Amino acid sequence: FKINRYPSHLAVTCALLLVTLAAVRWHIRDSYKVDGFSQKHVFITGCDSGFGHLLARQLDGKGLHVVAACLTEKGAADLTAAASSRLKTLLLNVTDSASIGRAVESVSKEVGERGLWGLVNNAGRSVPIGPTEWMKLEDFTKVLDVNLIGVIEVTLQFLPLLKKAQGRVVNVASVLGRLSLTGGGYCLSKWGVEAFSDSLRRDMHPFGIKVSIIEPGFFKTAVTRLDLIEADLRRLWTRLPQDVKDSYGETYFDDYVKAQNFSMGLLCSPDISKVTRCMEHALTARFPRTRYSAGWDAKLFWIPLSYLPSCVSDFVTNMFLPLPKNQRNV
Ligand SMILES: *[C@@H]1O[C@H](CO)[C@@H](O)[C@H](O)[C@H]1NC(C)=O
Ligand SMILES: *[C@@H]1O[C@H](CO)[C@@H](O)[C@H](O)[C@H]1NC(C)=O
Repeated sequence: FKINRYPSHLAVTCALLLVTLAAVRWHIRDSYKVDGFSQKHVFITGCDSGFGHLLARQLDGKGLHVVAACLTEKGAADLTAAASSRLKTLLLNVTDSASIGRAVESVSKEVGERGLWGLVNNAGRSVPIGPTEWMKLEDFTKVLDVNLIGVIEVTLQFLPLLKKAQGRVVNVASVLGRLSLTGGGYCLSKWGVEAFSDSLRRDMHPFGIKVSIIEPGFFKTAVTRLDLIEADLRRLWTRLPQDVKDSYGETYFDDYVKAQNFSMGLLCSPDISKVTRCMEHALTARFPRTRYSAGWDAKLFWIPLSYLPSCVSDFVTNMFLPLPKNQRNV
């Protein structure tokens, strides 16, 4: 009876040892790298600033051949100035099929018979973002065209080159692709990127192509720049009919912007290398992970919250927002 009621010290010790060994084995396996960085080409979208800009420099520093796509001449010039002569830039607008076609052509010349080792779909925008009722259809499509349709088309056009190298696709989603915190196209686009990446991973697995999803929490980049978000929110608010504005109350706009400012100030981390380290792992590890969450807020708060019942996540989400004045008693 004694043995049934109290696990022996030996059994507990063995269990702990097994768990420790499994963890050590996982960490060792996780640290294996692929060889021949100097033979590998990586194409990254959205390298004007933020994650894309830093990742391009980081991989360039490791000796990979980086082709960095920027939306603006200035973005391309800034990156060229900060990187080695090995790094190439090109101009790309992911909502323009012809522009994507030109990028494929020039990358194809660059990589030759080797094919493309890595595609990082990083380009994205957040505005228009805000209360759903303030949006028109074109506000949704502006974001979806870049963040979702752009990712799909860039991937489709680059797949033949990736297949040649049995390469990797790294798609930047977000914790907002796990938990829809705000209205507008952003969360929809990131949920779409999650679904697209899951299908792509399963479909391309037989061809040796690996697909990873990056889920950053809140970081200080152009996507979270409050001045840009606020200016666009003002445009949305100003064009609302008076009766809709009245239903929110006259102080709502200012309260909403203050709430955004407060939560962004609280949540946004300036250390964007947490995200680019995940991207680098997805491109250079022998065994890349399917999903990477980057940032303490993603790992400890948003992703766990996304598994809880909707009544819990609704309650928490609403704590970050003001109440419309005339609806307090509902
Ligand atoms: C990108 O391409 C789309 C579609 O061709 C165009 O409407 C948009 O103005 C372009 N954006 C930039 C920044 O060039
Ligand atoms: C935004 O928050 C910062 C502190 O995080 C504060 O200094 C600033 O005044 C706030 N701006 C607005 C418009 O509330």
